[in-house]
Amino acid sequence: MSDIEILPIDPLDADLVAAWIAMQNAVIEHDLPGDAPISTAHQRLRLLLHPAAVAVERYAARAEGRVVGGFELVLFLKDNQHLANLELEVHPDFRRRGIGTALLAFAEERAAALGRDTVLSAVTDSVDGAPAMDHAGQGFAKARGYASVDNEIHRRNDLFAVASEDLERLYADAWEKAAGYELLQWVGRAPDDIVEGIAEMRARMYTDPPMSEELDIRPAVYDVERVRDEERVRAERGELQLAAAVREVATGEVAGLTDILVFPGEEDHAGQNDTIVDPAHRGKRLGTVLKVANQRLLRAYRPKLRYVHTWNAEVNSHMIAINEAIGYRPLCRDIDVQKKLA
Ligand SMILES: CC(C)(COP(=O)(O)OP(=O)(O)OC[C@H]1O[C@@H](n2cnc3c(N)ncnc32)[C@H](O)[C@@H]1OP(=O)(O)O)[C@@H](O)C(=O)NCCC(=O)NCCS
Repeated sequence: MSDIEILPIDPLDADLVAAWIAMQNAVIEHDLPGDAPISTAHQRLRLLLHPAAVAVERYAARAEGRVVGGFELVLFLKDNQHLANLELEVHPDFRRRGIGTALLAFAEERAAALGRDTVLSAVTDSVDGAPAMDHAGQGFAKARGYASVDNEIHRRNDLFAVASEDLERLYADAWEKAAGYELLQWVGRAPDDIVEGIAEMRARMYTDPPMSEELDIRPAVYDVERVRDEERVRAERGELQLAAAVREVATGEVAGLTDILVFPGEEDHAGQNDTIVDPAHRGKRLGTVLKVANQRLLRAYRPKLRYVHTWNAEVNSHMIAINEAIGYRPLCRDIDVQKKLA
């Protein structure tokens, strides 16, 4: 296809934005059945607001008067300045015509122009026991010089199917091993007296979860200012952030953190964000305490919300065991694909 126009997405171009979101939802329906659809309200707000620690570029591909594809490039500004995180998609009715190739070449050019030498993306793979997924992304990534560098399993929890008695038992058992810690929960803004510890936990998310050597993600620079900025942006985008932390009573140290995000305009699906327990405090069921407590908080806030999604490295057996115990089941595999730009 030769007459493809690639244009930046102007948040104030209401028709372009609507067509872009419709294209993205057609892709999800085709490639990721069971995943959360894009919320129009949330996507429009994401176009307007993002944390100061990242820059974001979004482009749409237009052909035959329609939006047929697009990409989003996220660039970290405080750390990982070698990296461009890419999400790229082409409408299912317009594939195998070179649109993906044209978008990717453009995205890589932008990444290089912005000083990045590594592009990281993800493609979908099927897992046993879940519906078969389209593997177009794998063929495309391979054909375009991307190496598979890691695997994550995307799991979904159907909260309506979770037996609350099982959860209560798990929670009570976990607390027996977690003596000496206290639980703190909040919505939105973390309490001032633990926010420094929260920044440390957020930074750990870049290095602690098991990941392959080839996946070029480097240590993060996180401070209180970054945490507060992210909280402010989430609030302005109408995102509900439900969080739980555990603190060691004797030392006052933050030992672990978990948070769930609910996007505006989305009534059925939520996303699990970070979950981390400091290595010095592992093996005391704090992960279970955190996850069950936060799942309960979500049920209290949004009793009609049905699904929560999470992603774990396939080798992350401790986190996976907790997630399976509280109801998460595999939906698909995300293969992380990476290219070093010449
Ligand atoms: C992957 C995706 C972007 C490809 O878009 P596209 O416009 O069809 O891609 P192109 O036409 O430029 O394909 C270029 C090459 O990739 C490979 N490829 C693309 N789709 C493929 C498929 N379904 N199976 C095997 N190889 C495939 C082929 O080598 C193809 O060249 P060819 O058609 O001459 O054989 C599209 O299928 C999509 O949106 N998938 C869901 C999201 C996703 O996986 N994004 C990729 C992130 S890296």
